[in-house]
Formats: sequence, structure tokens, C-alpha cells
Amino acid sequence: MSSPSASPKINIAVLASGNGSNLQAIIDHIEEGILPVNIKVVISNKAGAFALERASKHNIEAIFVDTMQFSSRQDYERKLIELLDERQVDLVVLAGYMLLVTEVFVDKYYGRLINLHPALLPSFPGTDGIGDALKYGCKVTGVTVHFVDKGCDTGPIILQEPIKVKDGETHEQLAERIHKIEHEVLPRAIRLYAEGRLKLEGRVVRIES
Ligand code: GRF
Repeated sequence: MSSPSASPKINIAVLASGNGSNLQAIIDHIEEGILPVNIKVVISNKAGAFALERASKHNIEAIFVDTMQFSSRQDYERKLIELLDERQVDLVVLAGYMLLVTEVFVDKYYGRLINLHPALLPSFPGTDGIGDALKYGCKVTGVTVHFVDKGCDTGPIILQEPIKVKDGETHEQLAERIHKIEHEVLPRAIRLYAEGRLKLEGRVVRIES
């Protein structure tokens, strides 16, 4: 296998709605030379998202696109596609992007659109995977990176990492430990994609060695 630096780097875009600690992890891995991709653009649906600030700080183009300027979510996504096409983006990473994507986005990017979820899917999809696993009384939960399909957190699973829930652990404590894992697993999944090692077979993702 050729070394990642020998092949041209793929272009990625990161969509984020909030803090952007996972965006930061991607940036850090790139700067450490262990993730061979270019972040072409970071897009947020939230004007004040800290993710935008993190991008700018690293001289990455950061764009706020206001959903209120569009009459439908589909039109909003057509605008995003225009921006991503202009920048020749190969892979779109949803990292804390708190909007459900529609068929417009999935039809365009299926197989090159990935999402990060803070639970072991198919358990606890939705907006509070951490809280839902805690409330259920799970002893083990974790992190999932998956390709996005038209369902909510239902797409083909790329990587999963489990974590044991500690007795009496709060949402905040568990979230902190889950984020640490996310910050390793998401860059690892992006790297596998960049190396061309992810093969989609139906809903199963095979990882080539
Ligand atoms: C992460 O926990 C991710 O799993 C979920 O949203 C959170 C985003 O965190 N989808 P951050 O904005 O990357 O810090």
C-alpha cells in the first residue's frame, strides 16, 4: 500500500452547528500529519457557532448559511451543494450538525457523507444519544461513525467504539469521556475513507486492509 502522502489529498467539508470540538480534532490530526485531507470549508447553520471561529483561526474558510433565507430545507441544501461543488468537495463530514438532512443532500452525497453519533447505533438515535443511554440504564454505550442515508442515524456503520458507563455517572461526565473517544474515531474514519479503504456492500461497510 502506498503511503497516504504519496497520493493526492481529498477535499473534505465539515458541517457543524456548535462547539466544533470534533472539527478541532480533525484539524489537529491534519496538522500533526496523520490525516491526509484538506478541509476546504466549514459550514454552519448557526451564526455564532464556535466551530466557525475554530475554522477561521486555522485559515479555513468558514461560512454561515442561514436556513431562514430559504423557503424549504431542500432549497437550503441546494445552496449547500452549490457551495460544496464550487469547492470540489469529495467527502462531507457532519460533526455536530444538528439538522436532519433531506433526500436532496443524501441523493447527492450517498457514500461520501458521514455522521458522528454519541451512542452505539442502532441504539439511541436522535439528538440526545448520551442522555438516552444513561436514562435507559445502559452499562455500555459508545460512539458510531456512519454513512448517512435517508433515515435518522440509520446509515451503514463505518466504525464503533464502546465505553463502559460508570456507576452514578452524570450526563456531563459521560459526555466528556465520549467526546474524547469521538476525537479519535472520527479522524480514523475519515482517514480510512481518504485511503479508499471503505467498501459499501449493501448496508455493510467492509474495511479493506
Ligand atoms: C458530538 O457529541 C457528536 O457526536 C454529536 O454532536 C456532538 C458535537 O460536538 N452529533 P462538537 O460540536 O464536535 O464539540
